[in-house]
Amino acid sequence: MHLSDLPPRPGKKAPSIELRRFAGGATHAEQLDHLRIAHLTDLHFGRVTPLAVQRAAIDLANAQEADLVVITGDFVCHSQMFLDQLVAELSRLRAPALGVLGNHDYWSGADEVAAALRRANVEVLRNAWTERLIRGQRVQIVGLDDAYTGHADRRQALKGLRTDVASIGLSHIAEEADALWDRGVPLVFAGHTHAGQVTLARLHELALGRLVGHKYVHGLYGSRAPNGEPAGPEGAVYVGAGIGAAVMPIRLGERGRRELAVFELGAEARVEDEHHGEQPAHAGRKPSPELTEKRRAAVHKKMWKREVREAKRSLR
Ligand SMILES: [Fe+2]
Repeated sequence: MHLSDLPPRPGKKAPSIELRRFAGGATHAEQLDHLRIAHLTDLHFGRVTPLAVQRAAIDLANAQEADLVVITGDFVCHSQMFLDQLVAELSRLRAPALGVLGNHDYWSGADEVAAALRRANVEVLRNAWTERLIRGQRVQIVGLDDAYTGHADRRQALKGLRTDVASIGLSHIAEEADALWDRGVPLVFAGHTHAGQVTLARLHELALGRLVGHKYVHGLYGSRAPNGEPAGPEGAVYVGAGIGAAVMPIRLGERGRRELAVFELGAEARVEDEHHGEQPAHAGRKPSPELTEKRRAAVHKKMWKREVREAKRSLR
């Protein structure tokens, strides 16, 4: 038994997870009638995040009676040791669930994480799209594989996507959204940043925006207005603050709290009900091809180390 398997101590408060609500954009308002999307990201099943936290996230998602649950990567932390927990918890989702992988999933074993997700009835989109029919409404869901480790292939993911059918995008890395907007995907869900986890004094914007070079740090960016009016891009991206952590479970500051975001596509936008509106993007800095190559190589190195470890174990 691991520490994270233990039930919460008697009298200990249940983990708190923020519920943040948003309306969909103008394109979806024309195409859909009240389609509710619940967005979770960075669950990070592993040693760092107590299981009670992921359990609370799944309970909160179920309570929203969403039409779809989308999960944008980093299902695990650093290993495959917690895949059984992942399967047990994600199997409890009542709405159809779809997801894309993140860098931690690649570092821990992308194929094994994807197989576990399929066991939990979560459809994994690896540079692919799929169509769901929900209460007579068709929606296409495009899923990009992890861009951080160099596995995103937009051309492959978008092949054959119809522009006359409603669509949403999923990508662990939010900066991929711009290219999806250009191909008629007006709303993209993303994760990876954990909103910086510590957002006091806007520390997260300094650290992730200026130092790391993220254009999108946490929350809503882009535009949901018709044709991006007046001067915005023709699309929006939502970067979730996530549920778990890979290094330190600490979360300080309102924006840094664990969250579930709920988007009502096709519903009338009531700005007063929303947690916040579209924010200006940071300048951003694209990773160089060399850096992406280095990150891709790191995945292979970790895979090789895992295989050596397993081979040694089987010889014992
Ligand atoms: Fe993460």
